[in-house]
Amino acid sequence: MELNTQYEKIINDLLIQQYSIVDDFFLPQEVENFRSSLINKYDEEEFKKAAIGNQFNELIVKAIRGDFIFWIDEKLANNEEQTFFDKIEHFTNYLNRTCFLGLQEREFHYALYPVGTFYRRHLDTFQNDDSRKLSIVCYLNDEDWLPEYGGELVIYKEGEEDINIYPLRGRMVVFESQVLEHEVKPVKQERLSITGWLKTRKL
Ligand code: OGA
Ligand code: MN
Repeated sequence: MELNTQYEKIINDLLIQQYSIVDDFFLPQEVENFRSSLINKYDEEEFKKAAIGNQFNELIVKAIRGDFIFWIDEKLANNEEQTFFDKIEHFTNYLNRTCFLGLQEREFHYALYPVGTFYRRHLDTFQNDDSRKLSIVCYLNDEDWLPEYGGELVIYKEGEEDINIYPLRGRMVVFESQVLEHEVKPVKQERLSITGWLKTRKL
């Protein structure tokens, strides 16, 4: 099997620190296309306020997360989205062959954080479902995301300094869903991404 140095770097990062940051997983043109797809969907007003688990109380939800999301149905994927899933699939197959992770399923959504929103510290797993193994976020922001726009992804590790990751355009972050607590700091500029999970089959 051919060694893929980019994937090997991600795998190595995951083994050592449970997360990996890759700034060139997708080509600039691909990122541009994903961004346009997100914006088109948003303009069609297809995004929904994100919910949390079984929460129904909107005020409580708002205090935890304020982003709007749109789940991408792969069966209805446009060309841009298909490119995204093809690359994710290629990476997933590599992970399964080299690390025996048994990643059989996935789910991805677009996310848009309006100004003033955030996502409080959390873990990406649900109480009665531990199928999410790897979280993947790919940022689709304007070229010039500045530190003063906030919106850092903060990863927390016990006994270590918090890790602050800026949502730079094209940047992809992969991390272990069941291990790393994280949060999205309040944003002062609209913040766009594709976010999803590589999952094992639910028993
Ligand atoms: C999430 C999440 C992180 C980010 O959607 O669960 O933690 O940087 N997103 O957008
Ligand atoms: Mn999360």
